[in-house]
Amino acid sequence: MIFLKIWPSGLFEKNNMAKTVLITGAAKRIGKVIAIHLANQGWNIAIHFNTSAEEASLFRDELIQTFPDQQFELFRADLNRTEEVEELLSRVIQSMGNIGLLINNASVFEPGSLGKSSTDFFDRQMNVNFRAPFILTRNFAQTFKSGVIVNFVDTRIVTNQSSFAAYSLTKKALWELTKMAALEFGPEIRINAIAPGLTLPPEEKGKEYLWELAANIAMKRPGGLEPILKSLDFILNNDYLTGQLLFCDGGENLGSTN
Ligand SMILES: NC(=O)c1ccc[n+]([C@@H]2O[C@H](COP(=O)([O-])OP(=O)(O)OC[C@H]3O[C@@H](n4cnc5c(N)ncnc54)[C@H](OP(=O)(O)O)[C@@H]3O)[C@@H](O)[C@H]2O)c1
Repeated sequence: MIFLKIWPSGLFEKNNMAKTVLITGAAKRIGKVIAIHLANQGWNIAIHFNTSAEEASLFRDELIQTFPDQQFELFRADLNRTEEVEELLSRVIQSMGNIGLLINNASVFEPGSLGKSSTDFFDRQMNVNFRAPFILTRNFAQTFKSGVIVNFVDTRIVTNQSSFAAYSLTKKALWELTKMAALEFGPEIRINAIAPGLTLPPEEKGKEYLWELAANIAMKRPGGLEPILKSLDFILNNDYLTGQLLFCDGGENLGSTN
């Protein structure tokens, strides 16, 4: 039972900061594990989802049962639709009060070289992976006097390999946004990024897929979720850290060993 696993607890606490987090794409996979991790540290969680309504609802029920003194609410929004993104933060605030932490985790990860990327395909990835975090970050900074934002990028931002061209470009842009926003919105708001590498295989692939890819990285194995959770705690616990990128990729950003 996943809830019994208590991860190392973060010490993050600021008297003036609301202990409520909005996590985009939190019904499944990495977003869900982060939600469990933060619930274990006492956070109230705004669980954003889009198509995974059933998973989100079951997840919320489990969280309420396990952490009865905390608040867990569901917010559906299609991050490909500007008006739904623009409304998301105010819907959360209206229902749960102020938030202290925003985690831009939701993303579209679809293959396609530059030459094979239609404009609609490009726009969808840009909207969900970059435009939505931009809008949420700006709205967060306009609304709150303190807080932390964590953007999920990808170790692919260091290469120019184009098999996931649109996706990679959105993540490169999100890293640039992270730095620019950290400079403009400090000292009140700290903004950092996490760049996962071989963490979870795509839903249609098994674990062996990641092990095959890991043969060419420095650490020779997939990292799983723990490096991400440790990096998140590191960001939350370091109140002088802003505009930084933590690679959770076993050295994949260094290049291939052969
Ligand atoms: N998995 C990895 O190994 C890996 C590696 C490098 C980087 N990352 C990054 O880490 C983060 C989490 O990875 P992941 O593999 O857990 O992500 P994922 O499963 O590919 O996507 C997470 C969630 O994004 C949401 N999403 C997609 N399109 C959306 C839309 N139009 N509107 C609203 N939400 C939408 C989906 O919500 P619904 O299901 O509710 O529709 C989905 O559950 C991502 O930013 C990813 O780029 C992951």
